[in-house]
Amino acid sequence: MHVDLYERIWMWGAGGIVILFLGTIGVATVSQGRLPPSHVETIDPQSVFADERFAERGVTIHPDGSAEVIMIAMMFNFLPNEIRVPANVPVTFRLTSPDVVHGFQIVGTNGNTMVVPGYVSQFTITFDTPGEYLITCNEYCGLGHHNMSATLIVEEGA
Ligand code: CUA
Repeated sequence: MHVDLYERIWMWGAGGIVILFLGTIGVATVSQGRLPPSHVETIDPQSVFADERFAERGVTIHPDGSAEVIMIAMMFNFLPNEIRVPANVPVTFRLTSPDVVHGFQIVGTNGNTMVVPGYVSQFTITFDTPGEYLITCNEYCGLGHHNMSATLIVEEGA
């Protein structure tokens, strides 16, 4: 069967891109230990508030200067609803949901994950621009979805 030269070029090009992308994922997974934001840590969604990992929510600053944020995403709010973290240090977010699937997006940044009941979502991000950021739920979760938001304040470091 005859395949036009240009068609052939595009087919090999598209195939090459697929191989490049899969290779990138493979390298990141194997050599850098990158995992999806859920990082496959489970939790009983019915006892989120009693679970010691989420019993205390808010921001913890570690001795090395990095920060950890513990948050619960639930219908139709984030707990806590306002958080303050320092700029220019790694900030690790840990989130879970006691009810349905929510989204967690820090608008204008790379911070974005699904929050799935039964799992702990975790990702680390460094904010280099101090200021106030809007956090929104970007997964439809019910009648109050459009009101589900929080505020992140990134403060100038010491
Ligand atoms: Cu929570 Cu939409």
